[in-house]
Amino acid sequence: MVKIAIMGYGTVGSGVYDIIKADNFAYEAMNPIEIKYILDIRDFPDHPEKQIFTKDFNDILNDDEIYCVVEAMGGLKPAYEFTKALLMAGKNVVTSNKELVATHGPELLKIAKENNLNYLFEASVGGGIPIIKPLCSSLKANTVKKIAGILNGTTNFILTQMIDEGMSFKDALKMAQDNGYAERDPSADIEGHDACRKIAILASLAWGEYVNYKDIWTEGITKITLEDVETASKLGYSVKLIGYCQKREKLAIWVSPMLVRHSCPLSAANGVFNAILVDGNYLGQSMFYGQGAGKFATASAMVADVIESVRHINAKKAYIEWNMPEKNNILPISESENRYFVRTKAEKGSIKKIFGNVSVNEINGERVFITDIIKECDFESKVKPLSPISKIRVLDA
Ligand code: HSE
Repeated sequence: MVKIAIMGYGTVGSGVYDIIKADNFAYEAMNPIEIKYILDIRDFPDHPEKQIFTKDFNDILNDDEIYCVVEAMGGLKPAYEFTKALLMAGKNVVTSNKELVATHGPELLKIAKENNLNYLFEASVGGGIPIIKPLCSSLKANTVKKIAGILNGTTNFILTQMIDEGMSFKDALKMAQDNGYAERDPSADIEGHDACRKIAILASLAWGEYVNYKDIWTEGITKITLEDVETASKLGYSVKLIGYCQKREKLAIWVSPMLVRHSCPLSAANGVFNAILVDGNYLGQSMFYGQGAGKFATASAMVADVIESVRHINAKKAYIEWNMPEKNNILPISESENRYFVRTKAEKGSIKKIFGNVSVNEINGERVFITDIIKECDFESKVKPLSPISKIRVLDA
């Protein structure tokens, strides 16, 4: 019997509890798993196992029987102090906390390595989708060239509800909150900060060098209108919030709404689904797809990490190491190169004069076009005289 604790009994923490209560995974983990404590500041008087709840973190920290701790608290405080203390006390930690991994990942991974422990975070990106493990092991023979992902379930859900059901932004957000997809502060979803932390984690794993999420250009979906989405659709594109990174001499990395071709598999990821395209030099493109948020989807990834940790109870742990870069190696967004979708009232002649022989479409009394590949700063200065109604980056996949 291996004893574990759960910290945080919200949507995901309670999902972990339910899954482990339904099956102790004795076969999968080669040892039955038992939940000894649940840490939460709230009371759960009607819970069938109310005796295992504690409000005192020290009960877990000081209990030698606790082998692995599931951190489903979210946020940095007190999750950072707790995680650090647990690792230093010799306990494995499994987390869904993307903010913590993106902020303190290098330090926590180092402590885990020094203590021969697992610090596992499959659930931190893509909810239940396996993407962390593939990047850490299955894809290791490849050099990753680029990653493009729909990494936030809430915004994808909102965009899909707006497009398919004509629902307002506000109602769609409320529905995402009711379903337990949204962050406590939903601006983290709709302003792109959640996706930013996730692409930072993926980029750090793909190239082994820590990418600080604070250096990543981040735009959310709040400026996207139904007209943008409908016009893009007429040209054969969906609008998705994309976390993008591509390694050349410098790292091109950002989070922003992008036009995705209907023929690109990312375009088919709707609702709360996430999808992550990884381009490897040998494998080519592979796509990881599934529910990116929600109680059981996310909890299933955490339980899999617990099983992984328990399976290797007496083994040397496979560790992840993030080197700190000597200097910021991120390409400024103004230097990035893309094609751009533009809606404008300007005349066709003016557009052609500035952007050359692009194909200009007449849609709802507007001129709509997609540029050739151009550096962002050049695009910005060229498009200005056309007073664009909107301009959106186009994904090159
Ligand atoms: N708020 C996040 C999302 C939860 O909507 O994707 C999963 O990280």
